[in-house]
Amino acid sequence: MVEPWESNHEMNETKWHLLVNKGDKHMEQAHICKIIRKVEAAPGVMDFTVQNAALSAAAKPGQFIHVKCSDDVALPLRRPISICDTEGDTLRFLFQIKGKGTAALAKQEGELDILGPLGTGFLVDNERFHNPAVIGGGLGTYPLLMLAKQLENPRVFLGFRTKELVTLEQEFAAEDPQLAICTDDGSYGYKCLATAPLEMALKAGQVDVIYTCGPLPMLKVVKELSERYGVKCQISMEQRMGCGIGACLTCTCETKGEGTWKHKRVCKNGPVFWADDLVL
Ligand SMILES: Cc1cc2nc3c(=O)[nH]c(=O)nc-3n(C[C@H](O)[C@H](O)[C@H](O)COP(=O)(O)OP(=O)(O)OC[C@H]3O[C@@H](n4cnc5c(N)ncnc54)[C@H](O)[C@@H]3O)c2cc1C
Ligand code: FES
Repeated sequence: MVEPWESNHEMNETKWHLLVNKGDKHMEQAHICKIIRKVEAAPGVMDFTVQNAALSAAAKPGQFIHVKCSDDVALPLRRPISICDTEGDTLRFLFQIKGKGTAALAKQEGELDILGPLGTGFLVDNERFHNPAVIGGGLGTYPLLMLAKQLENPRVFLGFRTKELVTLEQEFAAEDPQLAICTDDGSYGYKCLATAPLEMALKAGQVDVIYTCGPLPMLKVVKELSERYGVKCQISMEQRMGCGIGACLTCTCETKGEGTWKHKRVCKNGPVFWADDLVL
């Protein structure tokens, strides 16, 4: 099978859209949302707030939206973006401009066609876990804000490549006064990976559950730390997506299940999984 992102990407994308369009229309709800705020949060990173009461009310931390980026027939596939936060009847999301889809989305004005909220988000259990740690890297920090707001007394560890990419600092600091920001080049905060202060907190016995999202190398280290220190861990996975609603099987990831249960759909069974179920 030809994947949509292989050569001749846009033509394949059109075929893919025809394959999954039926499910898209009938199985999940699309919302027309008014763009009420749009700013560049960091170079190449857009911060959008849209208004739609039904979408905002249904959203849970860790879920994502599937956004129609353009009316251009050459770009029919939606793009998945994590829900960063909700407030009243509004929903906020941040995205990095990577390719044609996100570049077109960044130019949108007026209204957006958004499918969602989609997927299985983070488990917030303030009765069971009293010392949650939230660790994000780069773009993976965006889905963690709404989560941090719903957790009681979270410790938050964020990693970025460099100072100019640091985003949402004030919002996270409001949830954790000890917020640890790390940059790879030391241009802001601590010069280390965000996993370093997380490990110190684990060593000190200050963590009983970890929630994470970010680049794969970081996720692997966080998973390994959770195993070494014996604490539960939830990981938000990212995968190239087609339909976003469980119909096309583009987005599978490997889990420890048996046979056909081994490969799970990131868009439906995830994007959030328990670390001990995942093969990374
Ligand atoms: C559940 C989920 C949540 C996401 N949340 C966010 C978010 O909150 N903010 C954000 O900036 N991005 C997020 N992404 C990634 C985002 O969907 C992609 O960057 C986007 O689809 C790229 O589309 P494009 O047309 O601009 O680029 P394309 O032309 O499709 O791709 C350009 C390049 O971007 C990279 N890319 C594309 N899709 C992905 C992907 N899914 N994962 C990793 N790299 C990719 C590839 O390197 C590719 O070569 C999320 C992805 C998933 C699956
Ligand atoms: S993107 Fe189609 S099944 Fe997940």
